[in-house]
Amino acid sequence: MTTAIIGTGVIGSVIARHLAAGGETLRLSNADIEPARALAAQIGPAAFVAASNRDASQGADAVVLALRFTALKGVIGEITGPLTGKIVIVPSNPLTADAHGHVSRVLPEGQSSGTVVAGWLPAGARLAMAFGSMSADLFESASNRSPELAVLFYVTDDDRAGEEAARLIRTAGFEPVRAGGIEQSGRLEVGGDLHDLVVGAAEARSLISPV
Ligand SMILES: NC(=O)c1ccc[n+]([C@@H]2O[C@H](COP(=O)([O-])OP(=O)(O)OC[C@H]3O[C@@H](n4cnc5c(N)ncnc54)[C@H](OP(=O)(O)O)[C@@H]3O)[C@@H](O)[C@H]2O)c1
Repeated sequence: MTTAIIGTGVIGSVIARHLAAGGETLRLSNADIEPARALAAQIGPAAFVAASNRDASQGADAVVLALRFTALKGVIGEITGPLTGKIVIVPSNPLTADAHGHVSRVLPEGQSSGTVVAGWLPAGARLAMAFGSMSADLFESASNRSPELAVLFYVTDDDRAGEEAARLIRTAGFEPVRAGGIEQSGRLEVGGDLHDLVVGAAEARSLISPV
C-alpha cells in the first residue's frame, strides 16, 4: 500500500521511517524539497519524492498531513481535489510557539482540534487523528516494543478511516486503540490524558473505558 506524507519535518520523518520499515511505500512532499530528498535517500527505494503536495497525494491510499496546525488549512485548500474521498491522517497538535519558544494552544479551551480539521476538509474526505499522541523521541523509540507492542491511540468518526489508521499504526510497529470519535482528539494532544503514554493494550482499553 502507498501512503503520502506531506511534511517531512520532525514527526513526519519518524512516521515515514516507521512505515517504510513496516513495508509501506511512501510518497513524500515538503515545502522545501531538500529535507524530503534527504529522508528518501535515508529510507531507500520505498520512498518516492513527489513534485508537489498535490502530486504526493495523487495515487496514495492515505495521506498523512504531518504539518504544524497553523499550516494545515492552507495545504488542505491546495489539495482539496485529491483529498476528496481520501483517507486523511492528521498528527497535528493545535499549538504554536512565539519568538521566545513559549508554546500555546491555538484553539479555545474545550474546542476539539479534530472537529476543526474535519471542517477544513472537503466533503467525502475520511479523517482520523493519529500519530500525534507521542513526542517524536518517544514515538521513535517505542516502535516494535517487546514483548508487548506499545499502543498508539487514534480517534475517528469514520470506520474506513479507522481501519486504515489501525493498519498504518500496526505497520509502524504499534498496537492501535481507538479512543473514540473525532471530538475526543483533545485526549491525544499535548496536555491530554492519553498523550505520551507508553502502555500495552489492556491498560490502554481500561483508560478508554474506565470500569
Ligand atoms: N515534533 C514532535 O515531537 C511532535 C509529536 C507529535 C505531534 N506533533 C505535531 O505534528 C505537527 C508537525 O510537527 P513537527 O515537529 O514535525 O514540525 P516541523 O518539524 O516544523 O515539520 C513541519 C514540516 O511541514 C513542512 N511544511 C510547512 N508548510 C508546508 C507546506 N505548505 N507544504 C508542505 N510541507 C510544509 C515544513 O517544511 P519546511 O521546514 O520546509 O517549512 C516542515 O518540514 C505539529 O502540529 C505538531 O504539534 C509533533
